[in-house]
This record gives sequence, C-alpha cells and structure tokens, in this order.
Amino acid sequence: MTIHTLAVLTHGEDGPGMNAAIRAVVRMATHEGWQSRGVRRGFAGLLAGEFVPLGTRDVSGMIERGGTRLGTGEGQLDTPLRVREALRRLNEEAVDALVVIGGREAMAGGAALSAAGMPVVGVPACIDNDIVGTDRAIGVDTALNTALDALDRIRDTASSQQEAFVAEIAGRQSGHLALLTAVAAGAEVLCVPEQPYTCQEVAEQVSAAYVRGKQHCLIVVAEGARPSAAELAAALEACREEVGFATHLIILGHLQRGGAPLAQDRFLGTDLGAAAVVRLAQGQSGVMVGLVDGVPVTTPLAEAAAQSRVLEPEQLVMADTLAR
Ligand code: F6P
Repeated sequence: MTIHTLAVLTHGEDGPGMNAAIRAVVRMATHEGWQSRGVRRGFAGLLAGEFVPLGTRDVSGMIERGGTRLGTGEGQLDTPLRVREALRRLNEEAVDALVVIGGREAMAGGAALSAAGMPVVGVPACIDNDIVGTDRAIGVDTALNTALDALDRIRDTASSQQEAFVAEIAGRQSGHLALLTAVAAGAEVLCVPEQPYTCQEVAEQVSAAYVRGKQHCLIVVAEGARPSAAELAAALEACREEVGFATHLIILGHLQRGGAPLAQDRFLGTDLGAAAVVRLAQGQSGVMVGLVDGVPVTTPLAEAAAQSRVLEPEQLVMADTLAR
C-alpha cells in the first residue's frame, strides 16, 4: 500500500496526552513524506466530513495541553451504513490511512474501517486503563496523579477532624484507576465493579480501622461499583455511631480527565503516536500499538475493542493487605 495522505482522529472520552499523540503522528507522517489531515470530533466529525489539514507547525504548542485539540465525539461506527459513509468521506479527502486514538469504542470503529479495507492503526487513550494490549493507556498516569493530589488534600482534613471520606474515582466499568489510586494513596478501603460488596461489609471495615486507632478513613470507590459511592456514603453516615467516623462524599469526576499531561503521558503519547505511523509505513493495519514492559507491541483492533482488561485478584488482595 502506498500512503500519500494520513488522517488522525481522537474519539470517545478525552484524556491528557492525546495531543502529544496527534503531534507525533503528524510529525512522523511528515517525516515519511505524507500529508496529514485531522478529523474533528471523532467518528461523528468523520461522518460529517470535518477534515482539517495538519502540518508540522499546526501541531506546535500542544504537547503540554490537556484534552484534545481535534475534539472528540460520541457515537459508534456500528452499522454497515455508517462504515460505508465513513469510507466515502475518507475517499473524498483522498485519505489512504487512518490513526484512531481513544478507548475501546475508538478501537471498535477502527476495526470496522480496517475490515472494510481502510488501513488503520489504533492508539490506546483512556484514563480508565481498561484496554488490553498495553500496560498503561495514554492519560492514566496524569489522571492517577490528579486523584492522588485530591486524596492527599482530603486526608489532611480527614485526619485533622477524624473523619471518613468516600471518594468516587473514574471507571464506569472498570476498577483499574481506582485500584491504582487506592494503593498509591494508602486508602483504607477499595470498592470496584469487579468485586461485589455490601455497605455492611464496608461499615465493618471502617469500624475496624477506627478500633485500630486510625485517625481517618479513606474509602476509594470506582464509579461503576455497586452500591455506588453516594449510596455507600449515605449508608455509612446513617450508622455514624457504629463505625466511629462521620462520613463525607467526594466525587472527583471529570476533574481527573483534564489538566496538563504529566511527563509520562507526554512520552507515552509521543511513543505510541510515532509507533502507529511506523506500523502503517511497514504495511501493517487492523492493529493497536501499546507498550508492554517498555516494548511496543501490537494487538488486533477487534481484540482491543472486544475485551476489557481484567483486574487481577492478587492486586485487590495486596491493596487490602496494605490498607491495614
Ligand atoms: O473514560 C473516562 C471516564 O471518566 C469514565 O470513567 C467515565 O465513565 C466517563 O469517562 C464519563 O464520561 P462522560 O461523562 O463524558 O460520559
């Protein structure tokens, strides 16, 4: 396959480091002698034909910026009609290959386009870290540090007032970011969607922490855990006398998605964006590039889209053991 023009898009939830990946894609494409186009608003923008020319100067001053300069959009390429329309838009723009940056939905769209004949390489970016085929997705490290900064501040006030805090961490379907946050913050309790729990069990853990002489109790709850963080905080507050601490709720929400990318996400975005172009130049397509043990590896896009990364039970046991 000969590539003259490459397009790049960011789809789904934004994350810090996506801009570094766009920049690396465009500059590596220029190095290969290719033209570049940016697609605004992910697959939604692709279906509407929203292309912008991108040269090396157009991607200046963005490696340090959070979010994604191309914008993202919702909506999937999940019908033959949409895939056909997307291909038509790419052909109208004379695009020969595409780099798709985002989470599992982005990889699914990339897989559909690749199966329909468009050369596509995916780059994993999602603060939830639920994508297989890479140790970390772009954005995870910055989101983790944002959550840690918040929890360190909360601990200061929680210790001073001998209180408990339920902190909701991003992760609608996965507890990876919550687990990393709980371990690094030294939280007393962790609740994730992958592991069933009851408010009664957590109340007993909080009470045990109080009896052990803890001055505070940090309870990290992933967004997708059930009961939810709000339900848990209400249940704990309702039995304040029994657990020993008053309980507050804090939802970090989209705060974790924004902000300047930390060094690790700038490197990861740069490495994976560059690797995506190298793979396309080698004639590869239908794969996602990730970093495993520091080495770039590829995973079929369809696999990256279909599977959610598993939370290892040993990691949960370790988090629980260290919380004592
Ligand atoms: O993917 C990151 C994330 O923060 C998820 O954990 C969360 O479910 C989702 O984004 C929320 O995004 P939105 O409000 O844009 O749907």
